[in-house]
Amino acid sequence: SPIPPPDLKSCDVAFVKPGVEVKYSCCPPVPDDMDSVPYYKFPPMTKLRIRPPAHAADEEYVAKYQLATSRMKELDKDSFDPLGFKQQANIHCAYCNGAYKVGGKELQVHFSWLFFPFHRWYLYFYERILGSLINDPTFALPYWNWDHPKGMRIPPMFDREGSSLYDDKRNQTHRNGTIIDLGHFGKDVDTPQLQIMTNNLTLMYRQMVTNAPCPSQFFGAAYPLGTEPKPGMGTIENIPHTPVHIWTGDPRQKNGEDMGNFYSAGLDPLFYCHHANVDRMWDEWKLIGGKRRDLSNKDWLNSEFFFYDENRNPYRVKVRDCLDSKKMGFSYAPMPTPWRNFKP
Ligand code: C2O
Repeated sequence: SPIPPPDLKSCDVAFVKPGVEVKYSCCPPVPDDMDSVPYYKFPPMTKLRIRPPAHAADEEYVAKYQLATSRMKELDKDSFDPLGFKQQANIHCAYCNGAYKVGGKELQVHFSWLFFPFHRWYLYFYERILGSLINDPTFALPYWNWDHPKGMRIPPMFDREGSSLYDDKRNQTHRNGTIIDLGHFGKDVDTPQLQIMTNNLTLMYRQMVTNAPCPSQFFGAAYPLGTEPKPGMGTIENIPHTPVHIWTGDPRQKNGEDMGNFYSAGLDPLFYCHHANVDRMWDEWKLIGGKRRDLSNKDWLNSEFFFYDENRNPYRVKVRDCLDSKKMGFSYAPMPTPWRNFKP
């Protein structure tokens, strides 16, 4: 059977790593009528939200996004406001660092087929909250276009000190236009920049095309209720999703905070930009064709999560309702995908 939404009343301490507790609670506020949380219905849509590539965004967009983010950070003054920036980051901590249990086992949304749908829903609400804080129902998150040579660095809007999009806890040697190595697992290489970009494109071809001809390889292993968490990652979750986290995180911190650990990753605004591109890969992958389509397994389709929407109302959502981004009200501004021609 499918994974049900987590039981908030049993939300408990989270762990940075085995044996090390997160020093604060990651649990969201519990709604008064927890037992009758309704299913989410898509609100009537006005216009599609078009997510732009972050490196190409203009100043007007950057100003809007900065304003929305600083308003979200202001909501942290009330530490129980589910729309606050820290509460939004805590969603990731609670779902990924062992705070929730389902069927007597830890709930984990990484290392399995829950990876893509969980993060899509997470960003969906995050984006709507930001939009509502600036009264812009068309506001769309930017995507970190790391699969294109022009996007293979920290997008400039996130690298301005003093901005609400900046985060101190990042690897300082990876700032100011340093080319990202999408295969990074902790060691900097002294490969020339052009070669790193070429390697990145080859790697993208491998993870999107060669190694993921069928849904199970792309989405990750089955994770029905009652089975052990972390049955196995999909190709993109493994690489480049994880390397981008590690590459961005701060080696001066104990656990690679912020981006280098699940509990803290959401505290870096760049997290949501990174995940917008991970999510975009889901759409791109289906466009490649062959057997590349969504899973049809009912345990996947009927798995559920819990989120607060932009009006602070709690909802349960199903995987089956997030398969088509346009039906959800958003899409991605097209960018060429040069990796498609990088067959080794
Ligand atoms: Cu939920 Cu990029 O991790």
